[in-house]
Amino acid sequence: MRLSHAFIERNAIVLLVLALLTVTIGGIVEIVPLFTIETTVEHVQGVRPYSPLELRGRDIYVREGCYLCHSQMIRTLRDDVARYGHYSLAAESMYDHPFQWGSKRIGPDLARVGGKYSDAWMYAHLEHPRRLVPESLMPDFAFLARTPLETRDLLARMKTNIEVGVPYTKADLAQAEADLRAQDDPSADHSALEKRYHGAHVVPGNGHPTELDALVAYLQVLGTMVDFKDVTPAQERQ
Ligand code: HEC
Repeated sequence: MRLSHAFIERNAIVLLVLALLTVTIGGIVEIVPLFTIETTVEHVQGVRPYSPLELRGRDIYVREGCYLCHSQMIRTLRDDVARYGHYSLAAESMYDHPFQWGSKRIGPDLARVGGKYSDAWMYAHLEHPRRLVPESLMPDFAFLARTPLETRDLLARMKTNIEVGVPYTKADLAQAEADLRAQDDPSADHSALEKRYHGAHVVPGNGHPTELDALVAYLQVLGTMVDFKDVTPAQERQ
């Protein structure tokens, strides 16, 4: 045995071939079991594409770089779950392109921030975080409240999402502008919006949303789509 090992180590070609063989076997052992998993995205009830207003809010979230300070991914660690709630499921970001898991938490995780605060708190905090949380490091975003939301490119944005797999229908596209305005107007009729986007949170606007209205609509839906009483995590299902 010792002799043959010396032989292998002194012959580069033999060493190379045997090393490749070893790596190949190791690779197969790691990869093959993955083919037996049906899907890595679990099937859960309730996850739906973002409503037009939420989608635009999400775009603003990305544009303003909120992900640089906030994650949207609750890890399976006990302290994460104790602080933020049920750990994040892959299905919850299936319509996020790109996903907003983030890699840094200067502020708290936002995966389940929807419904945690009132709208009034959300608006006031985003405009001037330090008025509510004196020690906050978060920048003021008051200018969002003064900036009307650009909606001319709404359909283009939804169509781009369709191209990467978000199942918006023709009716969703046709009604996009109406849905967007209804979600920004508490006195509007919300039945069509609710039918298309279950649980869409109506923000206290006047039908002409600002960028801040869109952002709050987005934040208020985060983590509210899945009813966790119905969820059986993959590893417990077997
Ligand atoms: C420089 C880092 C930074 C940036 C950028 C930032 N935040 Fe924050 N955020 C914080 C910190 C720190 C806190 C915790 C203190 C507080 O509540 O203000 C926080 C708190 C929050 C909270 C309350 C969370 C909770 O559970 O209490 C929300 C909601 C929030 N941020 C949203 C946003 C949004 C939306 C953006 C982008 C428009 C953003 N943040 C950008 C640092 C940041």
